[in-house]
Amino acid sequence: MPAANFASTTYSLGHGAIEELSKYAAGKRVGLSVDDGVVAALGLEERLKTILADAAEVKVLCHMQSEPTRKLLAQPIKDCQEFEPDLLVAIGGGSVMDSAKVMWLFYELPDYDWDRACQYFQVDPFPGKCELIALPTTSGTGSETTCCAMADKTADEAAMILAPQIRPTRAIIDYDLLSSLPKKTIAFSGMDALSHAIGATTINWSSELVRQVGLQAATSVINNLVDSYNGDQTARERIAVAATLAGQAIDNSNCGLAHTIDQAGGEFHIPHGLMQAINMPYVMKLSMPQPQYADLARQVGLQGTDEEVQEALIERIFQMERDMNVPLCLKDAGVPEDEFLAALPRYVEETLANPSMNDFCYKPDAAELEKLYKDTYYGI
Ligand SMILES: [Fe+2]
Repeated sequence: MPAANFASTTYSLGHGAIEELSKYAAGKRVGLSVDDGVVAALGLEERLKTILADAAEVKVLCHMQSEPTRKLLAQPIKDCQEFEPDLLVAIGGGSVMDSAKVMWLFYELPDYDWDRACQYFQVDPFPGKCELIALPTTSGTGSETTCCAMADKTADEAAMILAPQIRPTRAIIDYDLLSSLPKKTIAFSGMDALSHAIGATTINWSSELVRQVGLQAATSVINNLVDSYNGDQTARERIAVAATLAGQAIDNSNCGLAHTIDQAGGEFHIPHGLMQAINMPYVMKLSMPQPQYADLARQVGLQGTDEEVQEALIERIFQMERDMNVPLCLKDAGVPEDEFLAALPRYVEETLANPSMNDFCYKPDAAELEKLYKDTYYGI
């Protein structure tokens, strides 16, 4: 076995950590990728002017309001290439950070097209024109520490970039940026983080370091997410840290089966975090027993035999979802039954053909996958 490596970004962490930006931006041409709504809600417009006062020039290059697509990114990429920043700064959720990563790649490698950029781990070294600092305003995607950018999820134009070069140079996790999070976002993005944390421990080639990071992240999400949802600020800070740990876990491994069976999310416009909340417990039920589930169950205080604690863990996750008013199945999330059932054979086929299936510690066959998809639709 080759030695296990573990990559991560560098962090600045704490209340008011955004102020750190001033020292990294001094004398630089700074290109911003922002969510205008979040910047306004946090009252950051004027504050950013002060923080970036010593920058040589500042320009907003991207205002990504939704999941980025190739089309939506075309102009920001062009603007970035023309502006020639020394530093990109992303302030927002996963879409905003991923947009900045994509701009960074096409700025560093202007001869690249999407097809070349999307060849996993085959991107050429960057010449080093600029760096990227990510300031997450949600806690879930882990994008601030991953080498992944999702540009859209349509079947004919899938555009996921995996390249260590686009891992942000630094993540600034300022707890104060999480103060205005809507409850739904807390619930959905937190369940995405839980899916990352648990999923990474189910990858058959995950290192012990990944497993322990994933286990700790999952423990913290289970212990703190409902309190964060109910407004507890200390719990929200713990979730911010847990989410970025979960990001590290997938960045050094892979997401689990719950992420592979998420086709309905793009097709029926179900938020990614909600898809994960729905998929994850059914995937766990299908794939148990797994020693890492039993470890997690005991770490969150459940007692009994291995089988009892794993069943209890799945029920605990369902209860978290009930406590946060998260639908437990796609039917309750409003997905039309006839359309879902019509798509189901294709979902099974796509999942069986997905190369990630070789990574999972449990590999379902076609019949098990069909049942799994039906469980995610109807619940159990
Ligand atoms: Fe995810």
